[in-house]
Amino acid sequence: MEVAKLGIIGAGQMGCGIAQVAAQAGIEVVLVDAQPMLADKGRKKIDAALDKLVQKGKLKAEERSAIIARVTTAENMSAFADCDAVVEAATENQELKKKIFSDLDKVMKAGAILASNTSSISITLLGAQTKRPEKVIGMHFMNPVPVMKLVEVVRGLATDDATYQSVVTLGKRFGKSLVTAKDIPGFIVNRLLIPFLNEACFALQESLGSIEDIDNGVKLGLNHPMGPFELADLIGLDTCLAISEVLHAELGDDKYRPAPLLRQYVAAGWLGRKSGRGFYKY
Ligand code: CAA
Repeated sequence: MEVAKLGIIGAGQMGCGIAQVAAQAGIEVVLVDAQPMLADKGRKKIDAALDKLVQKGKLKAEERSAIIARVTTAENMSAFADCDAVVEAATENQELKKKIFSDLDKVMKAGAILASNTSSISITLLGAQTKRPEKVIGMHFMNPVPVMKLVEVVRGLATDDATYQSVVTLGKRFGKSLVTAKDIPGFIVNRLLIPFLNEACFALQESLGSIEDIDNGVKLGLNHPMGPFELADLIGLDTCLAISEVLHAELGDDKYRPAPLLRQYVAAGWLGRKSGRGFYKY
């Protein structure tokens, strides 16, 4: 099935990035957030991102107008009724996502695909909240979505081949490369990334080095584009902690226990770039 109209739930940095790449690929997008004001704000952010591309000469001004015209916002999920697929990009919270999937199932047309951008929560569990578990799949984008090449596709226990193929085709239309992961918490990318970021927090807690020295060690010594603290601030420390909790609880191994320092930063509201302060000040 070809996706002509895509719903996106959640107008945070991931939802907006997904909306942008979808609209750039010629797909009609409906953006919805639990707070309608945020959907409008998100659309403005997408417009500003497109404007930057025009300024850099990477996009023609008339293309920008056509792209942003493909992004509409709506107050609630009933606007998804004629969408061929939806990507859920809400906060990384299991109970919230379960409720969203149950609600989406009721408003989406028969045969429509329900994809989640979750970084760690079970696709099988989300599918079980619906009467169409065969149409439920993981479509995990990386941050910043317009720049990062990868989409991780995650098949739940009941996901059918047609859904998988449609999502692979959609990801390719977005210009992304795809990898397929089993529905095991963390999938491929976060199974490797989150223990790495968490270990950096333990290292800082032990005063192994300063924030800058640990980041520079990784950037200059391992050729990573960002150090672990810069990257954690980009992802959001609340998101890093939430994924850590899922890995710890679901895989049951104490090697995944979140660093107390990470919990402390989140408790302080120091969530990274989005809150103006994380390991660094913005
Ligand atoms: N949105 C759109 N474009 C962006 C952007 C953003 N937020 N941030 C940077 N860019 C663009 C810049 O405009 C620039 O484009 P041009 O080359 O056309 O000028 C390009 O990306 C490079 O940016 P900069 O020169 O400013 O800086 P940089 O070279 O350091 O690159 C970066 C920035 C792409 C973010 C790079 O540092 C990087 O790749 N960092 C690692 C990001 C990463 O690992 N992401 C995955 C996180 S894990 C995840 O998302 C999954 C999860 O579930 C937690």
